[in-house]
Amino acid sequence: MSDKKKRIGILTAGGDCPGLNAAIRGVGKTAIIDHGMEVIGINSGFLGLINKEYIPLTEENLSGIITLGGTILGTSREKPYKKKRNGVLVVDKPKLIVDHYKEMNFDCLVVIGGNGTMSTAHRLSEEGLNIIGIPKTIDNDVWGTDNTFGFDSALSIATEAIDRLHTTANSHRRTMVIEIMGHHAGWLTLYSGMASGGDVILIPEIPYNMKKVAKCLEERVKNGKPFSIVVVAEGIKHPKKAHAANYIAQQIQELTGLETRETILGYIQRGGSPTATDRILATRFGTYAADLIVNENYGQMVIEDQGAIHHRPLSEIGGKTRLVPTDHELIQQLRKMGACFGD
Ligand code: F6P
Repeated sequence: MSDKKKRIGILTAGGDCPGLNAAIRGVGKTAIIDHGMEVIGINSGFLGLINKEYIPLTEENLSGIITLGGTILGTSREKPYKKKRNGVLVVDKPKLIVDHYKEMNFDCLVVIGGNGTMSTAHRLSEEGLNIIGIPKTIDNDVWGTDNTFGFDSALSIATEAIDRLHTTANSHRRTMVIEIMGHHAGWLTLYSGMASGGDVILIPEIPYNMKKVAKCLEERVKNGKPFSIVVVAEGIKHPKKAHAANYIAQQIQELTGLETRETILGYIQRGGSPTATDRILATRFGTYAADLIVNENYGQMVIEDQGAIHHRPLSEIGGKTRLVPTDHELIQQLRKMGACFGD
């Protein structure tokens, strides 16, 4: 292990989420205060490393950011390994990243992102860069970790939104369909559906049948329940080029004649200040990442496993997605209470 003062870069990539600043602060403060490292922030994800856009991170500019949503470094969906349609890389972005990493004399690059980012991180570590990954996303779908930060904050927002739909649904005796984010995974829909007492919960992992959904809503009416809440994941399969909520609402109206309205919650789920749980998880991930760097244990992603923070090789993570198992405890409990999954 070298005694030389280490110089590290940090970037945030992919969609933003609450808790990114807490993670940047966790890595940065531990690296500076406990390990005497020099810390450089890279702007706008991998784009900043391609375009050489950096800012030094100090105790001063890392102060007061734990409460802030978004990311002080900015982010982008830049995928350096993505080829153009004809199969060629027009600019060799991975080479630029490797060159600029060397030019900056980095000892390690901390990459905070979701599944796509972890795949890129793995490929860069195969090119010889020292990389540590930290998982984040409101979707909670990063393979290899029980939780990502961002999820808890998005869950609170989604739950509050559905709570608000309850009162207006009740007043008007309507069926309310709400679309929740989550990309190909149903975590946010399942959890917010449970927390808010959703009557129908549709997630990509459980194929649904519209006739069964309709039957279940009609049963509720028969049983004297004047309104219903249908929580739908954005990633469910459907035949229309429309939002999932638009399709489901239109189908419900057509099949049942019930007065139905839809809401697409969208980016509100990703914005704003992180919850205490997300701040704590992000900070724990960040400090653990700085400790991995001290030990020169590179090529790893920080994970949460049954409440404890550990790490796993990036080589195991890349290219996988953590989906909801169809026998998940929450699904079983919700079924026992009469919730409908459309199957
Ligand atoms: O991965 C987070 C996420 O918010 C997903 O839930 C959603 O599908 C996607 O990002 C939206 O991406 P964009 O920010 O590129 O519109």
